[in-house]
Amino acid sequence: MPDGSTLPVRCTVNGREYHWRLAPGTTLLEALRAAQVRGPKLVCGTGDCCACGVILDGRSVNACCTLAGKADGATVLTAEGLLEAGRLHPVQAAFAETGAAQCGFCTPGFVIRAYALLQEDPDPDEAAVRAALGGNICRCTGYVKPVEAVLEAARRMRSAPAPGPGAP
Ligand code: FES
Ligand code: FES
Repeated sequence: MPDGSTLPVRCTVNGREYHWRLAPGTTLLEALRAAQVRGPKLVCGTGDCCACGVILDGRSVNACCTLAGKADGATVLTAEGLLEAGRLHPVQAAFAETGAAQCGFCTPGFVIRAYALLQEDPDPDEAAVRAALGGNICRCTGYVKPVEAVLEAARRMRSAPAPGPGAP
């Protein structure tokens, strides 16, 4: 495709800068996965399952329904970006340890929604967790374990607040 018909997008993903030239209509999910950022998953492609969840400039969004152009000049965080020097973020650790990740396909989306919730509300009750995860679909867990994982992560983060991604 000639350059004039592509869209330049500069963004920072998980602390790393990217400069993409994309076909018009490319979704953020397509751009991320083409760049080997494989945490966000394509499941429904219609905004109904949140498996493709990412944080775009501080807001939790479904990358399958977000044009990549929206990321121009923005910061994107995906579930793998929560790792700190190879260590799991408390949300990731709680999902792993409580059995909230079974096949794991939905897990990056759950982790991102949970992380976004805990940024806004460090001490959510079960109803708040269930409301926050209401759009995330999981075929394996019955949702009990993911809710337990988020409540456990909240407890851990309150007792030892995690530095934000990219913090020294
Ligand atoms: Fe994006 Fe389902 S794949 S919401
Ligand atoms: Fe398998 Fe959620 S753990 S779909």
